[in-house]
Amino acid sequence: MSAYKIQTHEFDMVVVGAGGAGLRATFGLAAKGLKTVCITKVFPTRSHTVAAQGGISAALGNMGEDDWRYHYFDTIKGSDWLGDQDAIEYMCKEAPAAIIELEHYGVPFSRTDEGKIYQRPFGGMTTRYGEGPPAERTCAAADRTGHAMLHTLYQQALAHDAQFMIEYFALDLIWDSSGACCGVLALDMAEGTLHLFRGQGTVLATGGYGRAYFSATSAHTCTGDGGGLALRSGLAMQDMEFVQFHPTGIYGAGCLITEGVRGEGGILRNSSGERFMERYAPHYKDLASRDVVSRSMTIEIREGRGVGEHKDHLLLDLTHLGPEVIHEKLPGIAESARIFANVDVSRQPIPVLPTVHYNMGGIPTNYHGEVVQRVGDNPDHVVPGLYAIGEAACVSVHGANRLGSNSLLDLVVFGRSVANRCAQTIKPGAAQRKLADDACDKALANLDRLRNANGNTPTAAIRLNMQRTMQSDAAVFRTSKTLLEGCRKMADVFASFEDVKVSDRSLVWNSDLIETYELQNLLYNAVATITSAEQRKESRGAHAHEDFPERDDANWQKHTLVKVDEKGKASFEFRPVHMFTLTDDVSVVPPKKRVY
Ligand code: FUM
Repeated sequence: MSAYKIQTHEFDMVVVGAGGAGLRATFGLAAKGLKTVCITKVFPTRSHTVAAQGGISAALGNMGEDDWRYHYFDTIKGSDWLGDQDAIEYMCKEAPAAIIELEHYGVPFSRTDEGKIYQRPFGGMTTRYGEGPPAERTCAAADRTGHAMLHTLYQQALAHDAQFMIEYFALDLIWDSSGACCGVLALDMAEGTLHLFRGQGTVLATGGYGRAYFSATSAHTCTGDGGGLALRSGLAMQDMEFVQFHPTGIYGAGCLITEGVRGEGGILRNSSGERFMERYAPHYKDLASRDVVSRSMTIEIREGRGVGEHKDHLLLDLTHLGPEVIHEKLPGIAESARIFANVDVSRQPIPVLPTVHYNMGGIPTNYHGEVVQRVGDNPDHVVPGLYAIGEAACVSVHGANRLGSNSLLDLVVFGRSVANRCAQTIKPGAAQRKLADDACDKALANLDRLRNANGNTPTAAIRLNMQRTMQSDAAVFRTSKTLLEGCRKMADVFASFEDVKVSDRSLVWNSDLIETYELQNLLYNAVATITSAEQRKESRGAHAHEDFPERDDANWQKHTLVKVDEKGKASFEFRPVHMFTLTDDVSVVPPKKRVY
């Protein structure tokens, strides 16, 4: 592969991705004296964290009764008992300090009259271990919390001694002969040059893969690049069958309308104007957990109570909230509704539909952000040199269903945690691991193949086939028939990538090539998702299997591990769910029926 020249750069730590998790890790690592580079395919403040709206959870108790132990309980219940309870304890306990840290960094949170951080209710967030009223736990900067956070985190990153390589695309992970990760090979998209970023540790903070689906709230950049890198390296992903549908994507456009709307009092209605969530979740109604609301909406539509010409969506009504609440708390969604649905929210309801929003599955890690794999009898073997955080990772704090506003929290808590861990385990300036002369050959062969791909099927056509298959066959409700059919179709779509056509052969600003890499990453994630869904014979959280409608703890309270080979064939192993805590501050929450 000598046709390609590679420039090598040595760092202590290499972070891939500059969203909330990547930025928090980057400056945390730099602050600990580790020479750190952050590689990102988009300018940091364009990362998808910018689109987060409703807020970040923490039991501050600014607006009423709350306790981080309630948050711990809610998150376990929300996860449908698939979340690791040690990691959930860690996240919920760290949450209040994480928010105060963000406040001190300069995040412009909305305020109460007393000047405290404003908090709103969100789905599945309750008090008194699910027995009390909804918790006001989600700290908000109006409905632009992710925007506020991402800009503040980037400002912090700039204040630290970290290097940013912006508009660099990570092509592949590079490994030594012992199986340790040694860094990443990346393409400078503007210059068309290749760079090997060597690091004692590499942190994948690349976000989710929502774009495997046809309709998603995720940005077009959410192409599961970290998962693709991990799967192509032969690593297993965890719990990929659990894909979250957000109840309120704008019908047709897919843009997010924050759960904060329902937190502020917005109501979902069907064709007869009925507040149907009262029937499905008598206690918490529109503020039940997301999987419950999305399923209820799908049932309403199926049973003929949808609205519109095709009776295929529902309405989110906030006309009763009044202009002050809309102006102060929800200005962003008022604008989105006007632009994308032609609706004045003070007078008309918003047409909405459950829309793909978040991947609970990802690269398996422990709560330090270290990537773990099953090796023989050890389900928690730490992969040397590799870390993952944020939506790219599966810690697993969200289990089978994530609670709204636990994602922004996950980003900052585990971004910080990985930095703390590396400060303990990595010595600044220590020698890099030895690499064989051919260590980059596989990555270069893939580059050469994709760049010169001369088949008959354009990247966009394969991507559309994948998105349509995932949308119809790995949906809110699944059956054995749709899943088997979906696996068969996805196998064909994966195989069709052999026939991909890339028209531009250059390396400079070759968006055709980059989209083809992104498609390759998406295809691995999509196969992992639909095959994992097919093998899980129960219903849990976001995985609603109509042929197996009950949760089956005896057989299925376990994490799925899936590998996908070069031919798109999936293989499975499992890891036990961590039913233990880190301290005596909380006790293990045993499984019980999940009602809201
Ligand atoms: O509805 C929302 O504002 C989304 C929040 C989240 O996914 O955490």
